[in-house]
Amino acid sequence: MSSPPVDGWAPEFYARFAEDRAAPFEDLLALLSPARRGTLLDLGCGTGALTAKAHVALQVSSSLGLDASPSMLGSAAVPPGVTLERRDLAASLPEGRFDRVLSNSAFNWIPEHRAWLPRVLNLVAPGGELAVQMPSNAGTPFSECVLEAAGEFSELLKGFAYHSPVEAPEVYAELFARDERVEKSRVGTWHYPQLHASVEGLVAFAQGGMLSAYRARLSPEDFERFCAAYRERLLRRLGSGPVFFAFRRVFLFAKLKAGA
Ligand SMILES: C[S@@+](CC[C@H](N)C(=O)[O-])C[C@H]1O[C@@H](n2cnc3c(N)ncnc32)[C@H](O)[C@@H]1O
Repeated sequence: MSSPPVDGWAPEFYARFAEDRAAPFEDLLALLSPARRGTLLDLGCGTGALTAKAHVALQVSSSLGLDASPSMLGSAAVPPGVTLERRDLAASLPEGRFDRVLSNSAFNWIPEHRAWLPRVLNLVAPGGELAVQMPSNAGTPFSECVLEAAGEFSELLKGFAYHSPVEAPEVYAELFARDERVEKSRVGTWHYPQLHASVEGLVAFAQGGMLSAYRARLSPEDFERFCAAYRERLLRRLGSGPVFFAFRRVFLFAKLKAGA
């Protein structure tokens, strides 16, 4: 899976479900202990709004947020001490090590996690902490219906379809257990239930996230048609009544040894 060729992220769509998206972030933040006067790195920081929250909550003196999307990066102001930079994380990682490294809802856009996670641990300072949260909904109608629509639009998408790279939680648990630098780790799955009046709510939610990869590859008109094809499939699978979606997210936490 390579990065989208054009910036398909739309902060105005992302912000429509700000409350739903903030809840897992709060749970992620709770995994980390404060690092007074330390440094924070946020991988896939989006608008930086949550980087700024973490900056204050973790009491660090400087925070760096990295993201590949100019439209996300350009849509929020951040306080002093927080720097946002454009970087395609699939292509390169920054220099240096940070006391706290977090990533909220962004690892699911980076391929090959078995190789990626050890590289991310390289960014954590000795005694430092890493916390990651990523959606993991492969095999649910939410994801399956998009893949079906991608099949229908295969020619326009030049064969592209988004397949989640998120591994089973046990894979991350083993990676941490085998990494000599890790002192303590936790891996878990949480569900964030959503009940929408109709499938329209699910489509709107996806337009702020997963569908960005398709927006990046289609003209606005074709993207509208793509969303309609997705909506139609969801309707067939889930019906017209209130629609339940048990949004599944995988959480990772690791603390490194002081001498790591
Ligand atoms: C769902 S948003 C999460 C943003 C932010 N962490 C938050 O919680 O509000 C996912 C972010 O990952 C970023 N992203 C996706 N692929 C990326 C890559 N290869 N390098 C850097 N950022 C990437 C997107 O640009 C987007 O801003």
